[in-house]
Amino acid sequence: MTRSPRVAIIGAGIEGASAAFYLAHKHAVVAELFDPDPYSGASQVAAGMLAPVAEAVYGEEGLLEIMLEAARDWIGLDATLRDSFGLDCGYRGGGSLLVAVGPNDAAEVERTWRFYRKLGLDARIFQKAELAELEPQLSPDISMGIYAKIDNQVDNRAAHRSLISASRTLGVTLTNSRVTEISPEHNGWRVQPEIGSARHFDKVVVAAGVRAGEIEGLPGFVSSVLRPIRGQVIRLAASEIAPAPSLVIRSLWQGRGIYVVGRKSGEVVIGASAEEVGFDPTRRARTTYELLRDAFRVLPGLGEMHLEEINVGYRPGTPDNAPLLGEIDDGLILDLGHFRHGILLASVTGKWIADEVVSPGRNQAIKAFDPARFAKSRGGGNVS
Ligand code: GLY
Repeated sequence: MTRSPRVAIIGAGIEGASAAFYLAHKHAVVAELFDPDPYSGASQVAAGMLAPVAEAVYGEEGLLEIMLEAARDWIGLDATLRDSFGLDCGYRGGGSLLVAVGPNDAAEVERTWRFYRKLGLDARIFQKAELAELEPQLSPDISMGIYAKIDNQVDNRAAHRSLISASRTLGVTLTNSRVTEISPEHNGWRVQPEIGSARHFDKVVVAAGVRAGEIEGLPGFVSSVLRPIRGQVIRLAASEIAPAPSLVIRSLWQGRGIYVVGRKSGEVVIGASAEEVGFDPTRRARTTYELLRDAFRVLPGLGEMHLEEINVGYRPGTPDNAPLLGEIDDGLILDLGHFRHGILLASVTGKWIADEVVSPGRNQAIKAFDPARFAKSRGGGNVS
């Protein structure tokens, strides 16, 4: 293909926006983004942790490399958006702390530290005095924790807006419509939006999040492998008398984990529940109470802050907790299933997907996340 391919990206959450940005910026390929309401999904509810250490989980060691690469790529992506486009993603360094509240939690945090060490991750155990110096907002009851200096954060809302804005500056168009159906036609794809007429594209990237399986024409396995994992998140506003913590804080209290992310802007995000209850938008009082109770236990100053928002989002889960990335048919590419790591991974999966659009099969690293691993066992087959 000598001319620039015509590319549709279905979904303008942070994954679709990142793919559109890399396509336009790195490869000079200008895509059309389709989304009825880009700022309504999980990208807006998330906390923005860029924390490959704090978010490393037993049994998900296969995600470590991509998470580390994503954290490194965010540094460059943030610099490009700032220096070349004048956009601020609210990137904040400083590291993360995983703190234990009770004695049983301390034993678990020590086990986690040994796990990090086994993975070769740079993480140090800090005792009370060092903790107080690092994060003065911490409760004096906290006696030990793990500090990981490579963990950082980004303001996910600002980053998402920035990626869309920079993409539009580069010529990407945003069509405010859902896509109802795709079908193959002469060396490409017919894309049918809900609003407006169908158009032809050479390539289609599906980045429509956990509901992507609702698009007619995708193979059946797409809807059967994606499932929503509900997360309830709280946003507070810090003030002079109640300043925001400066690090990403995770805590463990009686086996329950929460996180608190304090931004330079004064926004403080507390998360999150993880519930296998399907699509249920109820902002549950009990969940709000539990999140606030556990957060106040670690950072008592949060109690003085203004309660701004309570939100519910749906993490796009997959059976192996790893994303679905890559071509599943000629010119049809999936960029789905980022589960708990949507904001972190956006920096690297946007780049990989853009490479895959331009040079299919060239990127070796993406092969580990080939959607074909599910195609046979779960209603695979050709696109109909
Ligand atoms: N990565 C944070 C969450 O999934 O809640």
